[in-house]
Amino acid sequence: MAHRVQGVIARSKGAPVTLETILVPDPGPGEALIDVKACGVCHTDLHYREGAINDDFPFLLGHEASGTVAAVGEGTTNLAPGDNVVLAWRAPCGECRSCLRGRPWYCFNSLNASRPMTLEDGTPLSPALGIGAFTPKTLVAAGQAVKVDPRARPEAAGLVGCGIMAGFGAAANTGNVSRGDTVAVIGCGGVGNAAIAASSIAGARKVIAVDVDPRKLEWAKQFGATDTIDGSKDDPVEAIKSLTDGFGADVVIDAVGLPETYREAFFARDLAGTLVQVGVPSPEMSIELPLIEVFGRGGALKSSWYGDCLPTRDFPILIDLYLQGKLDLDGFVSETIGIEDVEEAFHKMERGEVLRSVVVL
Ligand SMILES: NC(=O)c1ccc[n+]([C@@H]2O[C@H](COP(=O)([O-])OP(=O)(O)OC[C@H]3O[C@@H](n4cnc5c(N)ncnc54)[C@H](O)[C@@H]3O)[C@@H](O)[C@H]2O)c1
Ligand SMILES: [Zn+2]
Ligand SMILES: [Zn+2]
Repeated sequence: MAHRVQGVIARSKGAPVTLETILVPDPGPGEALIDVKACGVCHTDLHYREGAINDDFPFLLGHEASGTVAAVGEGTTNLAPGDNVVLAWRAPCGECRSCLRGRPWYCFNSLNASRPMTLEDGTPLSPALGIGAFTPKTLVAAGQAVKVDPRARPEAAGLVGCGIMAGFGAAANTGNVSRGDTVAVIGCGGVGNAAIAASSIAGARKVIAVDVDPRKLEWAKQFGATDTIDGSKDDPVEAIKSLTDGFGADVVIDAVGLPETYREAFFARDLAGTLVQVGVPSPEMSIELPLIEVFGRGGALKSSWYGDCLPTRDFPILIDLYLQGKLDLDGFVSETIGIEDVEEAFHKMERGEVLRSVVVL
């Protein structure tokens, strides 16, 4: 039996999102039906509605979600109804060439539900990042639902499902930030601030926050930034160097995703330093760098897909850090909103007024 619920839909490129009745099927083999409790509004949802990800409209938006398991399909052994979960957009398949080499955090064939959620007229929906959680019920592959401690409040826990994990993992996993490192983070939205928090927890000696919006820099201090740079006033490369004895930082994280921020990250590194790109560029962007500098500076130029996380390993760690008071997930929740307020939340995000608006269902 399909469940008739309301969902936030992006119908066409650039059009404001609409709240529409959708049909969510019961779970088939290996699938789980989730009662969504909370779902954060991420920049990637906006990228979808702008047509910057692909043209598979209509999209069911929302992908930073927590909830409880309502029902599981045949053969699902990792979950039971009532389990408290955070949804992941990576559910390792166990069979692709990366999983078979023991690197499931890169899984090249991540699992999603195979039964489609649809509009009332039967039009299949493309769920954002294979989730689609601006709706009280959603259908996912059972592997996408990761059990976490139920004491975490849903609005905070759901954020671990995307932006916080991506930023935290960009520092902790991809950048391998370690005790004594100097770190710079360019772009202090939800993703960048999570990278700052992770660097601070890892014992970085200096954590330098760069943004063009002074409000973001104030928030960055709360997550552990030791120094801040207003990129609209000062040259970030020179400013990062002057804060690191003239050398540059050991790890520089680009949490914006523009050619200019990538370039800044490249030149703001110390010799043998690591650049981590976690901000997502759009398809028309490109970058040119002197090859002798790429060689001569050494180190590593890395991109971070979802913070190179293994959700079943990393989500419970982040939730435990939160419950111990070491990772301030509540600090990312700027406001809680209703399901009808997602379009307005996009505008607040564009105006830089929030780290995260979180839909509560
Ligand atoms: N790699 C992944 O797996 C992954 C996962 C989630 C999100 N993302 C991406 O990460 C990026 C950041 O996401 P977010 O939710 O934090 O977005 P956001 O809009 O909340 O934050 C972006 C921040 O960058 C700042 N900024 C813009 N231009 C700048 C510049 N030239 N210099 C310095 N700062 C600048 C903005 O003021 C803002 O604070 C987005 O591109 C998003 O799509 C990537
Ligand atoms: Zn795989
Ligand atoms: Zn996201």
